[in-house]
Formats: sequence, structure tokens, C-alpha cells
Amino acid sequence: METFIHALPKVELHLHIEGSLEPELLFTLAERNQIPLPYADVESLRAAYQFTNLQSFLDIYYQGANVLIREQDFYDLTWAYLQKCHQQNVVHTEIFFDPQTHTDRGIPFADVIGGISRALADGESKLGITSALILSFLRHLSEEAAFATLEQALPYRDLFVGIGLDSSEKGNPPEKFSRVFARVRELGFKVVAHAGEEGPAEYIWTALNDLQVARIDHGVRCVDDPALVEHLRQTRVPLTVCPLSNTKLCVFSEMSEHNIGKLLDQGLCVTVNSDDPAYFGGYMEENYLAIQSALDLTKPQLAQLARNGIEASFMTEQRKQALM
Ligand code: HPA
Ligand code: ZN
Repeated sequence: METFIHALPKVELHLHIEGSLEPELLFTLAERNQIPLPYADVESLRAAYQFTNLQSFLDIYYQGANVLIREQDFYDLTWAYLQKCHQQNVVHTEIFFDPQTHTDRGIPFADVIGGISRALADGESKLGITSALILSFLRHLSEEAAFATLEQALPYRDLFVGIGLDSSEKGNPPEKFSRVFARVRELGFKVVAHAGEEGPAEYIWTALNDLQVARIDHGVRCVDDPALVEHLRQTRVPLTVCPLSNTKLCVFSEMSEHNIGKLLDQGLCVTVNSDDPAYFGGYMEENYLAIQSALDLTKPQLAQLARNGIEASFMTEQRKQALM
């Protein structure tokens, strides 16, 4: 199974680049930038990665991002992730970045997107990994702040293909951002949104209807609404599911309770992704391996999951055909 999973050409569609910051690099950057850390060493930092829900994770994740200061830091972060992709036969990746996490600390937008994009370009030329960048608005902040971020981003519009919505879900429904996403669509960007991770199935409906998303990030709570499951089956609007994230954040009490296998068998376009691999204990292969063993997935099921990732991506039809 390990060999089989390794050999599958994998596409990642739900990865927060800030969530790929491993404790070792976090310490290196803290030292380089002279940022004091409330942890004595890598081991005690890793030991703090015990989460009870999404917010308990986000608090630590935003704290970790404070060590990212210079353009080179964003390059190093992204390059480390791409090397993991290379080791795990991830051939294409569409990654999120959260500009507000950085610009609100006074880091220039240009340095954030510049460092990430420079690494992605090297990923393609040196490792053969293609990629796309998705800017994500923080939903716990205001609509006004999202509009301001969009304005700041427009001079760099050639560097990203889409805009998403992440951070604290409950109490921050997609429709809070209807107007800014209408503008985003007008500008020609792809739209995605986190919905139905901790929040209700209703948020998946409003992401679809009000924001007109091309994909739902997470979406596992769709099972609470049979009409929604049927809609997702018929339309094949993809769900970018993140199994290790879901168990680490207690969305499912254990992996054997995860619904990805059932949704796959019902014909939904579910995909496997790592979300924040440095915090949740694994990259793409670890996610595939975890669901395979807990849910006893077969090779045809695993291959279908990988094909769904290709189908759900923003790659050209020509490239998709070449990978299928
Ligand atoms: N959900 C919401 N916001 C996030 C996540 C997530 O899983 N990861 C990073 N930001
Ligand atoms: Zn996410």
C-alpha cells in the first residue's frame, strides 16, 4: 500500500503555506529575526500541538507565523514545503496564503507574495512541480478589511489565480463576504471557501449560492443535509477534505469515524489534502495512509481519490488529461 500510495501522481488543493512551517524552521527563523519564543526548544513547541477545536489550533498557528518577516523567510518556508511535495510525488499544488496575518504585523504584501511566488517558480523549474496560489481572506476580520486586502493584492494579480476564505468558521458565515466575493468574481478570480468544517451544512449552501465557489474546502458536515449531499453528488463541486486535520481538530473523534470513504462511494468529488501538515502530523502521503488503514480503502478507491484531485484542480484540461 505504501508503494502504491507513493506512486500515485498526487495533486494537493488545500494547503495553508503558513501551516507547513515545521518547528525546526520556526526556531531557525526566530533566531534569524531575533523573535523571542515562549518555548525552550523544538520538542516543547511540538508538545504544545494538542488541539481541542479549530480555534485552539488557530491561536498557535497565528503565533507561529510571527517569525516570518523577510521575503527570504517566505521563500524558505515555501521551498521546504515543495521539497516535501517532491519526496511524496505531489506533482501539482494549489496553496493558500493569508496576507492579513502578515500585513497586520507591518510586513509588506510584496515581500509575502514575492517570496512565496519565487519559490513556486523554482519548484516548477527545478523540481517539475506546477502550482497555483490562492489568496485567502481571514473571516474573523471584517468585510472592509477583506476589501482593503483585495486592493493591496491587485498590483500582483498575475501571481495568484483565486481567492478563498479561512480562519474561525463558526459565527462568520460565507455571506458575511458576499459583496467582496462578487467583486472578486467580477475581476475574474476563482473562488473557494472553507465551509462545513466546524460550521453547519448551511454554510456550505451559502458558500455555493452566495459566493459561487468552484470548490468547498473541508465540507465534511454536508452529511447533515441529505439534499446537499445529493446536490454535491450531481454537480461534482469538489470537497477538499483534510483527514489528519479533521481528527487533530476533533471534527471526527477518530479516523475510523471519518466520512471520506462514504462520500467517495456516493459519487462526490472528494479529494485528499494536508491543510496544515506541520501542525497535524503529516503531508499528503501520511493523509492517504491514515485513511487507507482506518477505513480499509482499496487501491481503486485510492486511485479515484487521486483522480478527483486532478479533476478538482485549476489545471488546464490538457494537463489534467496528461495526468489521468
Ligand atoms: N480552517 C480554517 N482556517 C484555517 C485552517 C482550517 O483548517 N487552516 C489554516 N487556517
Ligand atoms: Zn484549511
